[in-house]
Amino acid sequence: MKAICKLAPAEGLTIHEVPEPTLRPGTVQVRVLRSSLCGTDMHIYRWDAWAQSRLKPPLIVGHEFCGVIEAVGEGVSGLKEGDFVAGESHLVCGHCTPCRLGQAHVCLNTQILGVDVDGCFAPRIVIPAQNAQRTDRRIPPEVATVQDPLGNAVHTVLSGEIAGKTVLITGCGAIGLFSIAVAKACGATQVLATEVLPHRIELAYQMGADTVYNPLQQDPAPAILRQTEGLGVDVALEMSGHPSAIPLITQTIRPGGRISLLGLFAEPLTLDLNALIFKGVEIHAIIGRRLYQTWEMMQALLLFGKLDVRPAITHQLPWYEYEHAFELMRTGEAGKVVLVWDEK
Ligand SMILES: NC(=O)c1ccc[n+]([C@@H]2O[C@H](COP(=O)([O-])OP(=O)(O)OC[C@H]3O[C@@H](n4cnc5c(N)ncnc54)[C@H](O)[C@@H]3O)[C@@H](O)[C@H]2O)c1
Ligand SMILES: [Zn+2]
Ligand SMILES: [Zn+2]
Repeated sequence: MKAICKLAPAEGLTIHEVPEPTLRPGTVQVRVLRSSLCGTDMHIYRWDAWAQSRLKPPLIVGHEFCGVIEAVGEGVSGLKEGDFVAGESHLVCGHCTPCRLGQAHVCLNTQILGVDVDGCFAPRIVIPAQNAQRTDRRIPPEVATVQDPLGNAVHTVLSGEIAGKTVLITGCGAIGLFSIAVAKACGATQVLATEVLPHRIELAYQMGADTVYNPLQQDPAPAILRQTEGLGVDVALEMSGHPSAIPLITQTIRPGGRISLLGLFAEPLTLDLNALIFKGVEIHAIIGRRLYQTWEMMQALLLFGKLDVRPAITHQLPWYEYEHAFELMRTGEAGKVVLVWDEK
């Protein structure tokens, strides 16, 4: 089969003929319908310092996908041929201390699809059965494929109370955009956001943001404080990975508020912890998705909670146009870019 691979330790990706994956006990074989591009794939494409330190080419890349189960390995129960599933990208061991404590999202032995093991930019993939999340067929494939990053948004937004709250979301990449819709679907009264790219500011409004500030054009802090009558926001969700978001949040979180941090920073940061301590805020560090609470909540929200993330899914391209897909990501013209595998 032909797959999109990182063949050598250098920039770029290549379409390459690879062997069909092998079904093993405890795994399922999935025919991929859609996969989606993530910032992580961009790091891998560029072959930046993180990618160089982590990947061992050759490797099939990609970790966000949905598809249909074609075969079920020995010992698998609860899944069958023909089931529509989406991939949880974190492979966890099930026996380390965090796993045993129900905190598998911080498993000590986590491996990531398309990073540590072969991924899903391929027509077929074999994954542990526990990584195949059965998905209701009423959820369209282009939405089903983004459940892994949507799960990051659901995990972050719902790591504390959200109903009736004023929320600030810094950074409207795919996960920030999803978080706007999740916060609104869960009853946030006002969602304020920051973003620097004009197209994503537009998408943020389409996702339901009340006001979006561009920090390149104005300091958002005074405006946010005005909008919250001097008190500040109840909840701040950091989703940009940009260092300037931290002093902004420090200034605009209300005393007793909640800060949930998802964005990853290129360099270690200096931050005014005392200012946060004196405000008595709660600070949450967020990684991945809760297995499987996040998945259950996400499916319920998609099916019954009026959560519509489709405005953020701006492009669907045939898989072999992956160079164009990465170009759309690079220029910031896209929200989420989806690759279609079941055509050609
Ligand atoms: N903790 C986790 O488990 C986890 C999982 C996935 C992604 N991440 C991280 O979460 C963040 C969001 O992910 P994403 O896929 O949406 O990334 P992304 O790069 O698409 O989104 C970041 C957005 O922030 C915007 N931005 C840049 N500078 C800004 C500024 N000064 N103010 C406001 N916005 C600014 C960018 O234009 C972009 O739209 C990234 O840092 C990513 O590395 C963390
Ligand atoms: Zn991803
Ligand atoms: Zn574990």
